[in-house]
Amino acid sequence: MLNFSIEIWVLVLGVCCTGVFVWMMLTEWSYLGTGLVRRSYDWLSPWYEGKWNSLEYQSEEFNQRLFLSPVLGQVGQDENAKVLDLACGTGRLSLSLLQSHQFQGTIHAVDFSPKMIEVFRRHLLENQISSERVTFEQVNLQEWTAESLHAYDVVLLLEVSELIPDLPRLLNQISASLKPGGLLLTTQVGKRFAWLFRGRFQSPGATRKLLEDSGFESVKVDSWRARYDVVLASRSEQL
Ligand SMILES: C[S@@+](CC[C@H](N)C(=O)[O-])C[C@H]1O[C@@H](n2cnc3c(N)ncnc32)[C@H](O)[C@@H]1O
Repeated sequence: MLNFSIEIWVLVLGVCCTGVFVWMMLTEWSYLGTGLVRRSYDWLSPWYEGKWNSLEYQSEEFNQRLFLSPVLGQVGQDENAKVLDLACGTGRLSLSLLQSHQFQGTIHAVDFSPKMIEVFRRHLLENQISSERVTFEQVNLQEWTAESLHAYDVVLLLEVSELIPDLPRLLNQISASLKPGGLLLTTQVGKRFAWLFRGRFQSPGATRKLLEDSGFESVKVDSWRARYDVVLASRSEQL
């Protein structure tokens, strides 16, 4: 045993505990179970949208090129178009779609935080968007199963894949819920942060392989903000 004084041991212990605490915080407590993640989003919901003031969220160019254009390109003006917004949060992209005159379809929005869903519902009212165009489901994505098979034109899974312990299971369910040729728009943690999410398929190579194994093709990764890259993939035409 090394013969350090008690002060050194206390210091080492303090540094280790702080390191673990910072890691837990940066990974949104997700290694401690999804219950804690849900509670933290419930608590955070009144302030969550504060981050949207940053340049990357405000950029018209990013919003169009990375998010709106791929979805609108997929669904066109089809009144029967169906979008599934998994981990919808307060509805950032869904609300932009619903406000675009081009989007005529409907959205099924899923999240496990009742408070985040409450904020999303409030935005629908504030923006006078018919509640008939959005249905909500409060469920943990760890347990979510695709009830409607090959039903959706687009699935959104934004800013959350790194928090899901069993991502392969979820991607298989998403794949089953999409129409052949349907679009998945998701995010993966950027290079600088990926090392924090061990075992969560967050490197570009790991994401691509996982998507291909789950029935996706034409995987494309674009840089967005430091924390996230945006990933587009098409559901294979073969069922
Ligand atoms: C960073 S927010 C992203 C919200 C939205 N997708 C967006 O782009 O603004 C993450 C959302 O995922 C939800 N979430 C995290 N883990 C989840 C899980 N296991 N099941 C369902 N929702 C989850 C949280 O409640 C939160 O609303």
